Amino acid sequence: MKFILLGAPGAGKGTQAQFLTKQFNIPQISTGDMLRAAIKAGTELGKQAKAAIDAGQLVTDEIIIGMVKERIAQEDCANGFLLDGFPRTVPQADAVAEAGVEIDAVIEIDVPDEEIVKRMSGRRCHMPSGRTYHTVYNPPKEEDKDDETGEDLIQREDDKPEVVKDRLDVYHEQTAPLISYYTDVAAKNPALKYIKVDGTQPIDAVESAIIESLK
Ligand code: AP5
Ligand code: ZN
Repeated sequence: MKFILLGAPGAGKGTQAQFLTKQFNIPQISTGDMLRAAIKAGTELGKQAKAAIDAGQLVTDEIIIGMVKERIAQEDCANGFLLDGFPRTVPQADAVAEAGVEIDAVIEIDVPDEEIVKRMSGRRCHMPSGRTYHTVYNPPKEEDKDDETGEDLIQREDDKPEVVKDRLDVYHEQTAPLISYYTDVAAKNPALKYIKVDGTQPIDAVESAIIESLK
C-alpha cells in the first residue's frame, strides 16, 4: 500500500503514521524527520534546510523531491510506504504523478488552527525514532522512556508559538491546495481513495476512523 498523510503542522500525521506503518508493515517516510536527521548529522543538505525549518518556511521543492525519490527507490519501499509531510506543494504532488507512483489513499487529518496551537506547545519528540508524544494528550509510557537509545524527549525548535503561526500560514498558502488537487484526482481515478478524518477526536478514535475508511 502507498499512502499520503495530509494535514496541517501538528494535525497528528506522525502520531497516526506510527500506527499505520505497523498495521500495514510499511516504512514511514517523513520528510521532516529526514531533514532533522540531516541537520543533526551536519550534512550539506542539513545546512541548507536548517534556516528554512527554523523560520517555519518550506525547504525548496528541488531538494525535497530529490530526497524522496532516493528514499522510495530503496528496497524496503518495494511493498509500499507511507508519506508523512510530503507532498506539501503542488509541484511536489506533480512530481509524484510524473514519477508514475500509484498512490492508493490520501488521508487528510483535519484539525482547526486553534487546536493546533495548543497541541504544539505540549509536543515532545524522541528524535532518533521520530516518536511523538504530548505532555497532556499522549504522555510517554514507562517502556517508551526506557528505549534502546536512552535519549531524552525534547521540544522541537519550530514548536515555539511564533514559528507555529508562520508554519500554519505556509500550510494554508502552499499545502492546503493539495486537498482539492487530490479530491479531483480521486474523482477521476477510482484507484485512489481520498479519506478525510476529523483529527480533533482522541488518538485511538482517529486511528479507528482511518482503518474504517480504508476498508
Ligand atoms: P514536519 O516535521 O513534517 O512538520 P509538520 O508537517 O509541520 O508536522 P508536525 O510534525 O509538526 O505535526 P504532525 O502532523 O506530525 O503531528 P504529531 O503527530 O507530531 O516538517 C517540519 C519542517 O520541515 C517544515 O516546516 C518544513 O520546513 C520542512 N519540510 C518537511 N517536509 C517538507 C516538504 N515536503 N517540503 C518542504 N519542506 C518540508 O502531533 C502533534 C502533537 O499533537 C503531538 O504532541 C501529539 O502527541 C498530539 N496529538 C496527535 N494526535 C492527537 C489527537 N488526536 N488528540 C490530541 N493530541 C494529539
Ligand atoms: Zn510530524
